[in-house]
Order: sequence, then C-alpha cells, then structure tokens
Amino acid sequence: MQVDLEHEKRIAAEAAALLIEDGMVVGLGTGSTASFFVEALAARELDLRCVATSPATEAKATRLGLRVVPFGCEGAPTRLDIAVDGADQVAADGWVVKGNGGAHTREKIVAAAADRFVLIASSDKLVEQVSPPIPLELLAFGAEATIARLGRVRRRDAPRTPDGGILVDWIGPVDDPAELARLLSATPGIVDHGLFPPELVSEALVGRGDRVERLRP
Ligand code: 5RP
Repeated sequence: MQVDLEHEKRIAAEAAALLIEDGMVVGLGTGSTASFFVEALAARELDLRCVATSPATEAKATRLGLRVVPFGCEGAPTRLDIAVDGADQVAADGWVVKGNGGAHTREKIVAAAADRFVLIASSDKLVEQVSPPIPLELLAFGAEATIARLGRVRRRDAPRTPDGGILVDWIGPVDDPAELARLLSATPGIVDHGLFPPELVSEALVGRGDRVERLRP
C-alpha cells in the first residue's frame, strides 16, 4: 500500500495546532510539514505572537494573518510557550536530525527558547538511529579552512542562509550522535549543526496512515 506522506505531515501538523492556546508566543519551524502547521494554526484565528525560523515561513505566516514578531533585537521575546517544527530524522533513542532546509541554526535557537518543543513528521522520518548527512551551517569567514579541517563534508548547491552562513553536510560516520555533536560544536567555523539532542525535544507527533502517534524521547 502506498503511504501518503503529505497526508501524514498534514495530520501531524493539525494535531500540533490544537496544542496552541490564545495568547501564546509560538515558534514556527521551516519546511513542508511546518508549512502545514502554519496553515492549520492560522485557520484557528487565535490571538498569538509568532517567531519565524526563516523568511519563507515568515512570509507565509504573515500572508495567512499570523502576527510575526522580530526575534533579533532588543524587546524581542526571550521565551516562547511552544515551538513546532518538522524533522529529517527522528531516531528511536530520541536524537533528531534537522536542517535539510538549511534553517537548523535558527530552528535550534527557537527550540531552545521554547518551554515546549514539538516535532511534527510523517512516518518515513522515524529511523532506528540517525545517519548522515548531518546539515552544517558554516561561517563564511574561513569556510574553506573549516571544510578542509572537517574532511568528510559535502558541499551544497544552495544560497547563503539569511544570516550569511554557508550550508554543507557532514557525510562521515555518526556512530555516537552525542560525541559527534560535541565534536561539531567544538569545531571553529561551524555556526551550528543539525543534531538535536533528546533533551531538547518535548514530544514528536508522527502521522501514520490516518492516525497521529505521540512519541516522547
Ligand atoms: C529545515 C528543517 C525541516 O524541518 C526538515 O528539513 C523537514 O522538512 P520537511 O517538513 O519539508 O520534510 O529542518 O531546516
């Protein structure tokens, strides 16, 4: 039987939209699943302030009538009630890979600022353990030196991030995600990587057929 992944993304997104209450500050992720969430959230017509993790998400949210507030200046919210975002891989041990859309740095900042970080995904995103590629955002200054130091990196044919970063992917082994996350975080020139630790994730809502499964790491 063919799995309708778009349907699974949509129902996971709709389930997440039901978690949002009037008056909340809500983080909006990036990607096709997060886009379904923006649609479902806008349809609820709540009084919210939203923080967007990419210009594409901001444009869509604003077009649908959601109030998007700045997150990069004095006076911006410092805590969010909840953030909802998609994922590329959700592993059985709770580790998550994000950033195929290149927005993982902003997405991690928003997730870390949220009291509750909810992932939404179709069932194909569930994996036994995380594996390469792991998205990386590099500071443009010295990027060639950073790439040479890392070695096992694949360049992306992608525009710079909104923050001027260069997107590449780690394609070396991911035997121990915690160890790799430490290594990548300690490498000069890496702005951030797409490995999200289990403790950052409150829950995952995963569409499977016509049902939404709730997983907690
Ligand atoms: C963007 C992301 C996305 O959330 C992730 O790539 C999943 O995308 P999609 O919902 O389109 O499958 O991390 O940086």
